[in-house]
Amino acid sequence: MIKMTRVATVGAAAAGLMAFLVPNVMASSPGQQQAAAPAKGGSHTKPAPSPQTLRALADRAGIHIGTAVNADALAGEPQYADLVGAQFNSVTPENAMKWDAVEPTRGTYNYTQADQLVAFAKAHGQLVRGHTLVWHNQLPSWVTAGDFSADELREILHQHITAEVSHFKGKIWQWDVVNEAFNEDGTLRDSIWLQKLGPGYIADAFRWAHQADPKAILFYNDYNIDGVNPKSNAVYDLVSSLRKQGVPIQGVGDQGHLDVQYPAPHDIATNLARFDKLGVQTAITEADVRIPLPADNTEVEAQNEAYQTLLEGCLLTKHCTDFTVWGFTDKYSWVPGTFTGEGQANIYDENYQPKTAYTVISQDLTLAGR
Ligand code: XIL
Repeated sequence: MIKMTRVATVGAAAAGLMAFLVPNVMASSPGQQQAAAPAKGGSHTKPAPSPQTLRALADRAGIHIGTAVNADALAGEPQYADLVGAQFNSVTPENAMKWDAVEPTRGTYNYTQADQLVAFAKAHGQLVRGHTLVWHNQLPSWVTAGDFSADELREILHQHITAEVSHFKGKIWQWDVVNEAFNEDGTLRDSIWLQKLGPGYIADAFRWAHQADPKAILFYNDYNIDGVNPKSNAVYDLVSSLRKQGVPIQGVGDQGHLDVQYPAPHDIATNLARFDKLGVQTAITEADVRIPLPADNTEVEAQNEAYQTLLEGCLLTKHCTDFTVWGFTDKYSWVPGTFTGEGQANIYDENYQPKTAYTVISQDLTLAGR
């Protein structure tokens, strides 16, 4: 539950977080804890690493801290599973709820890996973000190459959403119903859904998901919508118009995939605040900050700042409910496979050692929880 006091009591603290933290972060180098103020006699002492887990700190800050979960690692690597359970109070299946995983052939559903994650979450007192129902990627070929009429495809989408959301009814906190429907210039992406069904597929998807699980909180989710820009403006207009029509949309997910080569947007709180005013929740749903390899200290510092900027944008926004990282360890990051020559995007290294990005996140959460 979000503590309603968070913004009143924490907003002020969070407003000062950047000023407080950035100089310290700049002074630290990768793998080191931040340097504390000089002790008497001029020597520097290192503060002990926080004994608090991220989830304990997030609890106190009135926010959820989540991670995307790799199903194979969860099943096969105890160290991975231990950290997911210990550090996070929300989880998102990285791939296990996507269409190609769940309905690889028409009408045949496979929920094995997704069910395992839902059970893990229950056992560890975690909430689950469902991800994702309508997307242009990771569609099975029977959908993309099926040459269906508009009516058939609409019915296929309806069926898929109804079956999947019903399967998990009562177990999903927030569903990413529609993912990445916009281009950078704010026009709608020319996906199979837009081509065959027209723009109305978005409202339909939310209505169908709501029918199947009226209590799940339904999100639109996209990348490059951190700050105010043509794409986030288009998402804003969409959400505003859907709300006016009474379409059940209750949240906007800002994926938060950043790259140290580009400046992190510093108007995230301004952007999220306008969604707050529309009456929807917001969340950072897929935070990671990639670095061209090999990474140098300046890039690691830029990464720390980018993580802070995303988290603080959320902490400053009253109804920003969660901060989810897209995987917590470099060992299983999607980045090297997708962005040639880039990596080290996560808050733990590939040997499960927390990085300085972990430290700055725990410090921000600590301050926000005071
Ligand atoms: C990525 C996964 O991390 C990869 O394992 C998979 O191969 C491709 O998809 N935006 C999203 C996520 O909404 O679902 C994507 O996840 C990353 C970009």
